[in-house]
Amino acid sequence: MSLAVIILAAGKGVRMNSELPKVLHLVLKKPMLRCVLDAALAVKPEKIVTVLGHDFESVEEAVAGYPTETVIQEPQLGTGHAVMCCEEALGDFDGDVLILSGDVPGVSPGTLRGLVGFHSKSGAEVSFVSAVVEDPRGYGRIIRDADGRPARVVEEADATEEEGKVREINAGIYCADSGFLWNALRALDAENSRREYYLPGIVELCVSGEKKLCVFEAADSREVLGVNTREELAGAAKSSRLAINRRHMENGVTIEDPDSTYISASAVIGKDTVVRPNTHIYGRTRMGEGCEIGPSVYIEDSSFGDGVVVKFSSYLVECRVEDGAALGPFCHLRPETRIKKGAKVGNFVEIKKSEIGEGSKVSHLSYVGDSDIGDGVNIGAGTITCNYDGEEKHRTVIEDEAFVGSDTILVAPVRIGRGAVTGAGSTITRDVSPGALAIERSQQKEIEGWTKKSSGRGKGKS
Ligand code: UD1
Ligand code: CA
Repeated sequence: MSLAVIILAAGKGVRMNSELPKVLHLVLKKPMLRCVLDAALAVKPEKIVTVLGHDFESVEEAVAGYPTETVIQEPQLGTGHAVMCCEEALGDFDGDVLILSGDVPGVSPGTLRGLVGFHSKSGAEVSFVSAVVEDPRGYGRIIRDADGRPARVVEEADATEEEGKVREINAGIYCADSGFLWNALRALDAENSRREYYLPGIVELCVSGEKKLCVFEAADSREVLGVNTREELAGAAKSSRLAINRRHMENGVTIEDPDSTYISASAVIGKDTVVRPNTHIYGRTRMGEGCEIGPSVYIEDSSFGDGVVVKFSSYLVECRVEDGAALGPFCHLRPETRIKKGAKVGNFVEIKKSEIGEGSKVSHLSYVGDSDIGDGVNIGAGTITCNYDGEEKHRTVIEDEAFVGSDTILVAPVRIGRGAVTGAGSTITRDVSPGALAIERSQQKEIEGWTKKSSGRGKGKS
């Protein structure tokens, strides 16, 4: 059966009390709408249509690059009306339509696949996801008939006191036969307290039309939490986060404190890697096996080999770190940095757009920018590459086995030849030949008997 997806994202999200459209608020650094789009893509639909409305320019920009068509709903007359706005975009489509809410960020591909499979097997006209929750406030309640069959969904504002007590809620995720859907939407009215066309109205129309209706219970109700307020945003983000952490632990990753560990849905972590408390691993980070990360480490969009160690308070973005490298504590690796096998980067070191060769060491208090450092190089404490002359950036090249003395200033463009040495405290402005010693500092003077001569004037004063 062919499948199309509609994602509802036109609402302002008044209850968020925000200038930002609700679906652009972040869960693990990703806009909610993108979380939903990623889940939708995983079920491989023929087509995705996203309904935009409030501040559609910003929302459109946030999903640029995603294979979704967009339609504008203006004015926004409710969730049912939002789906109606897609009829033209899906005009020729005949099959199942999966409808998702842009404000249910934790929905998993597994649940969507489950719903779609269940729907097509059951031959129902409409199937929708339910969950039983402790606190149903804010959700539409599922009202069952005397025989226990689902009959309709009633919104909180329209519910009687008795209906309000029902804890079985509508998760806002539906799968419907396209032919039935467009007809049912035309039959909706706005006779309710919000004067809106409610999408859950199709449930009652399905039942009254004696069509088949199915309810698909979410395996984990925490996955389908909707976000209407900032408090719910924090709650949904937390439950997404804990679900991701559980998945990694099942895959053989040790997470010492899941409550304080933040890992994005798209990160991949190898077996027997240990993640210590207060660590953040975001974006498309890929990590090998047996790494030790943290505590208090931040990593984004980076790739790691096996056995990499990153110690306390290090911050890495868009880096490539090969097997057995050791980083930190307190290092800052900026985009386009590559740390090769077994290299070591120590405390208070910043590296940008540079390569550090195999087994090389930058152990203390250095800035390395726009540099190519070979294998087996030692960079002494306090070394700095002057890569920027105020107008342009220049590269520093340090060949294999070179030894850069402490506090060397390397004024780029400059090349240190293979096995060359620079004297501590030198400012190197010209290339150094392989095997040479370059030293640039004034000679040390010595004045004999100085302390005796100067007695009475205080030691060390001249
Ligand atoms: C909706 C359901 C409710 C369900 C809950 C699950 C309705 C009427 N109610 O309630 O039964 O329990 O979701 O989370 O559908 N939107 C549009 N256009 C509109 C209105 C809304 O695109 O005109 C979008 C919103 O941007 C949002 C989604 O639809 O992404 C849901 O709308 P929202 O107002 O949050 O509905 P709820 O009151 O949460
Ligand atoms: Ca909602």
